[in-house]
Amino acid sequence: MADHKKIDFEKAFLKGHKSYDTAVGDWWEGQASNGAHRKAYAAVAEFVHAQLKGRGKPKPKWLVDYACGSGPFLAALADRFPEARIVALDGSRKMLERASMRLAKSGHESGPVDAKRCFDAKGPRIRLVQTSLPNFSLPANKADAVIFVFPNLTPAPGDQDYYDKHGYKKREDVNVCTVLARLREMDPEDEVAVNNPKEMYDGLMTDRVISRNLRHLVKKSGACYKVDYANAHRDELSKLTQIRSLFVEGALEESVKEMWCQAFFRYVTNKFFRSQVILDVYHQTKDPSDKTGGYFISEFTAI
Ligand SMILES: C[S@@+](CC[C@H](N)C(=O)[O-])C[C@H]1O[C@@H](n2cnc3c(N)ncnc32)[C@H](O)[C@@H]1O
Repeated sequence: MADHKKIDFEKAFLKGHKSYDTAVGDWWEGQASNGAHRKAYAAVAEFVHAQLKGRGKPKPKWLVDYACGSGPFLAALADRFPEARIVALDGSRKMLERASMRLAKSGHESGPVDAKRCFDAKGPRIRLVQTSLPNFSLPANKADAVIFVFPNLTPAPGDQDYYDKHGYKKREDVNVCTVLARLREMDPEDEVAVNNPKEMYDGLMTDRVISRNLRHLVKKSGACYKVDYANAHRDELSKLTQIRSLFVEGALEESVKEMWCQAFFRYVTNKFFRSQVILDVYHQTKDPSDKTGGYFISEFTAI
C-alpha cells in the first residue's frame, strides 16, 4: 500500500483523474479496502435500498455509481439490488481494472462498455465505463438513482472550457456564487479552511457543474445520493455552509441577497455516520481536526 506521507496530493491531483493511475490509486485502494470503508459502503447501499423502498421503488432498473473507483461500493450495491443494472463511471483505467477483478471475485457479472451505449438493453449487468467526468454526452434521464460516494473529482487543467460550456458561466449562478464566496461566517470559528473568495468561488461553481451532470443522468423524480466526508451532522453546520452546500447540490430553493438560481434537485434528507473514513481527508490535509468525524449521506429528488 502506498504511504500517504510520501504523496504530494496537491501536485498529484493536477493530473486530473490520471492521478488515480499513479501512487494515489494505490493509496486509495488501501483506504477503500479497510474495515471502516467496507462498513461505510454496506451502510450506504443499505440506506439507498431502504430509501428507494420508502419511495415505492424497491426494484430500480438502472443505478449509476458516479466515479466508482476500484468498485467496493459497486459490489455492495450489486448485492443489495440483484435485479438492477448498474452503470459504473470512472476516469481511471487502473481503478476500473481493479473494479473488474473485485466484481469477478465476488461473483458479479461486469464488463467494459462504451460511454454512449452504457444504458443499452444488451450488455453486462454491471457496465464499467471509462470516461472523464463530468460528461454531458452520456445518455440523459435514464437512471432511477445515481450515487456519488466520497467525491474527489479532480478536474484536469484543460477542463475549464468544458466546465464553462456546462454551467460554470451561467449568469444567475455566477451572481449567487459571487455573494456566497464573499460572505463570512458570523462566528470566525466556523470559517472553512478555504477562505480565499476566488478559490471558494471556483470550488463552488466546479462542484455545481458536477451536480448538473448527476441531474443529467437521472430521470425526473429519480433519486440522487451524495456521500460526503463530514466533521458533524449536516444540521449542525453553520447556516452559510448549509446554503453553500445546497447551491453546489443544485438544491437551493431560497434567495441569496434577493437573487435566485435554478434548483434542479430537491433536498430530501440526510444521515450522519461517525467513521474512521474521515482519515482519507486527514491524509490529504494533515489537519488534525480532520481526524474526527465521519461521513453523511444526503438524498435529493430530481426536479
Ligand atoms: C476518492 S475516489 C472514490 C471512489 C469511489 N466512489 C469509492 O468511494 O470507493 C475518487 C474516484 O474518482 C475518480 N475521478 C477523479 N476525478 C475524475 C474525473 N475528472 N473524471 C473521472 N473520474 C475521476 C478517480 O479515478 C477515483 O476512482
